[in-house]
Amino acid sequence: MTDDKQSMTVNGSPVWGDLDDPCKLKGNPLAGRDLLRLLDLTPAEMHKLLSTARSQKTAWNANERVQPYVGKAVAVILEKPSLRTRVSFEVGITRLGAHPIVMSDANSAFSRGETIQDTIKVLERFVDAIVIRSFAQQRVEEIAHWASIPVINALTDDYHPCQGLADFLTMFEHRGDLSKLKLAYIGDGNNMAHTYLEGGALTGMRVSIATPQGYEPDPKITSECRALAKETGAVLELCYDPEQALQAADVVITDTWTSMGDEAEHDVRLKAFSGFQITADSFRLAAAGAIFLHCLPAHRGEEVTDEVMDAPYSAIYDEAENRLHAQKALLSLTMADI
Ligand code: CP
Ligand code: NVA
Repeated sequence: MTDDKQSMTVNGSPVWGDLDDPCKLKGNPLAGRDLLRLLDLTPAEMHKLLSTARSQKTAWNANERVQPYVGKAVAVILEKPSLRTRVSFEVGITRLGAHPIVMSDANSAFSRGETIQDTIKVLERFVDAIVIRSFAQQRVEEIAHWASIPVINALTDDYHPCQGLADFLTMFEHRGDLSKLKLAYIGDGNNMAHTYLEGGALTGMRVSIATPQGYEPDPKITSECRALAKETGAVLELCYDPEQALQAADVVITDTWTSMGDEAEHDVRLKAFSGFQITADSFRLAAAGAIFLHCLPAHRGEEVTDEVMDAPYSAIYDEAENRLHAQKALLSLTMADI
């Protein structure tokens, strides 16, 4: 991503191919598409999503109001807790003119044992897109299999692509050309680590991940990302030494050591991850001008200190805000008429 100058609406409808569009694509190839993981995108599509988010954010901040989806509705199904995802989707969908229907209680969506097929086939008679936060990636894939409307993964055990879009947007805004950056991720080889490998591979970044032994990213996902990295020039490195990964990093990221669903392992994980905390001292290994990101919620005093969270180089609240802009761009493009 190198610019933010593409306009994104004509007569209130999202558009894809400006004449100077670096993607050189005609039409909008994201119309009607799912986003279940970042690798569902091509590098050009990732670029387009980020540049659309930038354009929409700039327009919103200049008080331009575009509501392309008045009369449409989006179901947001949350099978795990959420603050940012729920609120950012609800607000973003409303800003697009559409109606969000959030189902997060124990009595909605899939709670009565109906099959995924029946649930989705009914739901899509009412709504125009489905946002789903769940456990197994396979469940979200099955939902997408039955749905003829866009399905957006709002976090599974394996991936968090919406957070990834927000994070790569934040990196671009703070540090510029993504292909010139080194990202260091210190912590669990979890859904966020997978998402950074995927986003790094798509944008041609250098991504260095340090985990304790036994907590590495999924080897299958790593090798899929490395295959793409060969085309984009990305460098994807895994190691067990936080100091090695942090050296000269432009972006330093961590995440909770105990993800949703891992709570029973909390004490074991606290021990396994000792030495992986991001501190003001360890941050000094990063490059001059480096920023700190965390998808949040953070466990201050575990994976990161207060000093880092609250430092001038911490961009965590910009990152949280960018969930809204990134998801709004994603829905703008995927909910467009095919
Ligand atoms: N980062 C993120 O997805 O936050 P929530 O779990 O609060 O939605
Ligand atoms: N890895 C964390 C991310 C939370 C947004 C989890 O899955 O709980």
